[in-house]
Amino acid sequence: MLGNFIYYNPTKLYFGTEVEKNLHDALNNFGKKVLLVYGGGSIKNNGIYATVTKVLKETDKEVIELSGVMPNPTLAKLLEGVKIAKENDVDLILAVGGGSTIDYSKGVAAAAWYDGDAWENFWVKQNEPAADQKVIPVGSVLTLAGTGSEMNGGSVITDEEHKLKLGKVFGERLIPKFAILNPEYTFSLPQNQMVAGIFDIMSHIMEQYFSGDDDSTSDYLAEGLMRSLIASSRVAIKDPKNYEARSNIMWIATWALNTLIGKGKRQDWMVHMIAHTIGAFTHATHGMALSAISAAYYRLIMKFGVHRFARFAKVVWEIPAEGKTESELAAAGIDALENWIKEIGAASNVSVLGVTSDMIDDIAAATILGGGYKQITKEDIVEILKNAVK
Ligand code: NZQ
Ligand code: ZN
Repeated sequence: MLGNFIYYNPTKLYFGTEVEKNLHDALNNFGKKVLLVYGGGSIKNNGIYATVTKVLKETDKEVIELSGVMPNPTLAKLLEGVKIAKENDVDLILAVGGGSTIDYSKGVAAAAWYDGDAWENFWVKQNEPAADQKVIPVGSVLTLAGTGSEMNGGSVITDEEHKLKLGKVFGERLIPKFAILNPEYTFSLPQNQMVAGIFDIMSHIMEQYFSGDDDSTSDYLAEGLMRSLIASSRVAIKDPKNYEARSNIMWIATWALNTLIGKGKRQDWMVHMIAHTIGAFTHATHGMALSAISAAYYRLIMKFGVHRFARFAKVVWEIPAEGKTESELAAAGIDALENWIKEIGAASNVSVLGVTSDMIDDIAAATILGGGYKQITKEDIVEILKNAVK
């Protein structure tokens, strides 16, 4: 395993069905004033709001509510939350929802006590809050398995006016202090959101897996997570209330992006960079933007990391190597990925997301460039998108 690293993660995870008891314990570690952040109201329909507010009452908290966090949360909404958090001098932000709500809560937690242009400082310049700047602790109750936001520092915010969707990965002060992971809380998700979450998880693992060629434990962990995800996805698609499958998916999501499997690795993240720009242009659901371009992206970079793609085919998709060249095996792995995208009902082209051919140049120009096996150029992105249009 090459590369030096530090691994530390401060999130206390409470996994399983005894949510009330767990939340009670978790909240006891924080002050009285709680900013309760949630999205467009799904938590009121599925009973999670009632459960959480009951515990907040029992723990004698003073609750300030901040609702309406939209998928792909916007800068305008962030600034509204910053004002509320500061005015009320809250002791804890409790995010109840999916990645958007948790990302948003971290953004508010970082920006509330920053006296300047928070967007410019944290998201554009990628600075951390200064050591002497107050940041508000965040806790979370997760309702959608996908982003890993419950155990990482990621906060992705969209500046709608300038069509910019930027992610800031904050340091340990902004990683949630606790996360309540109750797989049953994901049962009420519409099928397309469950599927988008599943593909997001797969993409997080692949973004870390497709880089480097040393013998790294991180890659063996990644392969195990992908195999488990594929198996559980096949159960969950047919039987969405299958606790075993949904609990596996939730646990894989958390470990896919809490930095563990990226340790010692260069990593890629270009599928995410392109998908973020697509999101800024179309408001596409994050996981669907990833699935729509993945096959086209991996076909473009395959020859630069052909050993790893062949290993992916053999280990993750169990494709026999006999009778195939390494390139043929590698290509068969990408075909298997594409077939699985269709099998679970994720988007397999960008046209269904609203991307049209005349948007391709602008999307390519607005995307942050990087890569794992290949340094990606603007021209590469144009080619990927052309291959991903139906
Ligand atoms: O807003 P509500 O009413 O809650 O409805 C949400 C929303 O419409 C709904 N939902 C969530 N849980 C539900 C539910 N509906 C019924 N039952 C439930 N249990 O699902 C919709 C999508 O929710 P959202 O939070 O937007 O989805 P997700 O968790 O996929 O988060 C996406 C955001 O996270 C960012 C994405 O870019 C996007 O902005 N990401 C964050 C990352 C991180 N923190 O590390 C990394 C990811 O790569 C990603 O970029
Ligand atoms: Zn993602």
